[in-house]
This record gives sequence, C-alpha cells and structure tokens, in this order.
Amino acid sequence: MEHTEARPHRGWASRWIFILAATGSAVGLGNIWKFPYITGEYGGGAFVLVYLACILVVGIPVMMAEVMLGRRGRRNPISSMEALAKEAGAPAAWSLIGWAGMLAGLMILSFYSVVAGWVLDYILRMADGSLTGASSENVTQAFTGLLTNRNELLGWHTAFILMTVAIVAGGVSKGLGNAARILMPLLFVLLLLLLGYSLASGDATRAFHFMFDFNASKLSGEAVLVALGHAFFTLSLGMGAMLAYGSYMPGKASIGGTVLMIAFLDTLIALIAGMAIFPLVFAHGLEPGSGPGLMFMSLPTAFGNMPGGGLFGTLFFILVGIAALTSAISLIEPGVAWLNETWHVKRLRASILLGLVGWLGGVACIFSNNWLETGPTDGWYVFETLDFVASNVMLPLGGLLIALFAGWAMKAPSVREELRDLHPALYGAWRVVIRFIAPIGIAVVFLNSTGLLKLG
Ligand code: TRP
Repeated sequence: MEHTEARPHRGWASRWIFILAATGSAVGLGNIWKFPYITGEYGGGAFVLVYLACILVVGIPVMMAEVMLGRRGRRNPISSMEALAKEAGAPAAWSLIGWAGMLAGLMILSFYSVVAGWVLDYILRMADGSLTGASSENVTQAFTGLLTNRNELLGWHTAFILMTVAIVAGGVSKGLGNAARILMPLLFVLLLLLLGYSLASGDATRAFHFMFDFNASKLSGEAVLVALGHAFFTLSLGMGAMLAYGSYMPGKASIGGTVLMIAFLDTLIALIAGMAIFPLVFAHGLEPGSGPGLMFMSLPTAFGNMPGGGLFGTLFFILVGIAALTSAISLIEPGVAWLNETWHVKRLRASILLGLVGWLGGVACIFSNNWLETGPTDGWYVFETLDFVASNVMLPLGGLLIALFAGWAMKAPSVREELRDLHPALYGAWRVVIRFIAPIGIAVVFLNSTGLLKLG
C-alpha cells in the first residue's frame, strides 16, 4: 500500500540508523537498572537462561510482527492499524492497538522520567565526590534524602522531559536519527570502558558464575514469568514504539535480519551491563539481590570506595542517562506522529503537549510519594500503579493483539510480502510462533501478572 499513497513522513536515512534508533529505544533503564536487579532477585544463571529463551522464542517473533505492521502501514500506529485492518477486511477496532499504545507510552514515560531524574542527580553526585569513601549507610541515606526531596525530584524530572521533548521535536531524521547516530556509539564506548574497569578491579569470576551458572533448583514459575515480561519491556514491544519506528524503515531492508540485530544488541548490552555491575558489587561484599536499590545504593557504594571510582561512577551514570533518553523518545514518538499526521499539529507543539502529559504523570508520582512514612517499597503508590498497569497489563495485551493481528487477521500474502527475505522454513516457524506459541505464552504471563492465574 505504500505505493498508492504518498508517505506522510520522512524516514531514517539508512537501515543502520534504523537499527541504532531501535536499539536506542530497546536499551534503557530496563537493561542497565532492571535486568541486573531482577537477575539478582531471581538467583542469577537459571533466570538469565530463561530470559534468553524468552527473547528468542517470543520477543524476536513479536518484534518482527510489530516492525512489519509499521512498515506496511507506513503511518503512525493508530492510522497504520486502521489502514491495515481495512486492507485485511478486518474491523477498524484493531486501531485500539495504537490508542492503547499511545496511552501506555505516556504512562511509562511518567515513571521512567522520574527514575531517569535520579540518574541525572547521580551523575553530579558521583562527579562532585560527595559519595567518595561513603559507607553503605551514608549512601542509603543520600538516596533516601533524594527520594524525599520533592523540589530536587521535580527539577530533575522536568529536565529529563525537556531533553526528551527537544529531541522528538526535531523530527525523525534530525531529532531521533541524529540522537541515535551520536548517542548510541557513545553508549557503546562508555559501556566497554566500564566493562574493562569492572573486570580489572572487581570480582569477575564470581560475577560470571553468578550470571551464567545454571542451577535449575532456583527456577520458580514466577521467575519464568518475570523473564517473559521483561523480554517485552526491554525490547520496547507492545505499545507501538516499534510500529512507529518500523514505519520509517526503508522498504528494501530485511525485517528478519534487522530485528535479529536489534535483539542481539539489546541482549548483549544487558549482559555486558550485568558484567560491568556485578563484579564491583561482589568485590565489595555487597548483595546482588538487593532489589531496585542495586544501582542507586550498592553500586555507588562500590564506586565510592575504589580507585578511579569517582570518574568511572560518573561515566556509568552518564551512560545510564543516555540509555534512558534514547528510550524515552520512543515513548512519545507514536503519539507525536499521530498528532502530526492526522491532526496536522506541528511537531514542536505535539512534542510539548505529550511531554506535558508525561510530566504531569511524573509530578503525580512525585507528589504521591510518602516513602518516609511507609518505607522503601510502599511509598510509591502512583509510580507503582503506573508501572504495573502499563508494563504488566497494557504491554502484554498490546503484544498479544499484535501477534493475533499479524497471525490471524492480516492476509497471509501481505505478511509474506513484507517478510519476503525470510527463508521458507524460518517463515513457517515464525508463523507457528506468532499464531500459537506467542499468544499462549503472553496470555499466561498476563493472567499471572494480573493475579487472575496463580503460577509458581
Ligand atoms: N525498552 C526500554 C528499556 O529497556 C523501555 C522502553 C522504551 C519501552 N520504549 C518502550 C518499553 C516501549 C515498552 C514499550 O528501558
């Protein structure tokens, strides 16, 4: 259908820029903050293996479906789904995928930006030496102090939203494309530097065993489900981000090969992040299973007490900030593209508008926080609700609908045309996964994470 209508938007300059931008979306707080701490919480090696299996069996096929829908639709997620439903003779209600996705993106941005704000704060804290030589109590106190200082939280949250808006306002090739072109290579370099530092000065052997030793007895049903849920979050699936990015993809590029590359880079970076973090944590006798505080408490304690820690700690948080920024832009791009294409709202205005909605959501997170009175895990009511509903309900549901549309509603010849580069055997396998295995797998995760089904 891209032949019959003029493309309403300009695309990525090349297939490589698409790969960098999509990898930028995928690699974020999920890889560097969340993956190491859930690996810690679920006991290491066995969890990592299941997570890898989830990426391979469900993540990659669903990502291919999402990118495929975007490239065939050639519009923002809402209009793409309308057009594709029409082409397939299916109900227009399939555009719900785009609507729900836009909402989920704004919900994720709300809390994502608050955490990214902590990261910005830590760049300065590591750089000004205030955590140098600090005991783990001091560091915990400093983190608590930040979480209860609303003005500071607001300031950093606002700064992060402004950066996100500035990039998205620049458009696909000048904004998103250039951000990917400049920031992603920087991210790779920083990550390798940190890996080297960590391997040289931390306990690499113990970290390696922790991450890769397979111990089946540690494998609970819940761990399997968390691994599958995280596979979705880390690949940016289920809300139309990849659909929007895919709509700017060159028509000639192979979807299978490109998606494989993105998933490979995302996984590699998560594993390297683990190998950059755990050796330091172990070398200082700290706990890998310390939960969300791993990056904001254990790690800064380690950095604060080692030679060169100030410099490398600063670089580490710059790296995390970059990863968060290139992800956050993909959270509002679907909505901005929709406002721009369908309602002819200028990109700058559309970005400001959606940034403002995300900002308000983050403000609600910050002002509903009564961490001091209730303790570390219970004080973030709005924050946790947004995370839970968006990540555990809307993303799996969106992914399920995407798989069902690609597998059942869309006409097979249209699908095959987009995936024409795929070897027949691989195409056959993909089709079985997208029609049966992925929907069933996602349904199980969804039912479990919403408490409708209790496994493990
Ligand atoms: N993938 C990002 C991370 O790992 C988060 C993210 C960005 C995301 N865009 C998304 C998650 C869209 C789901 C859907 O941090």
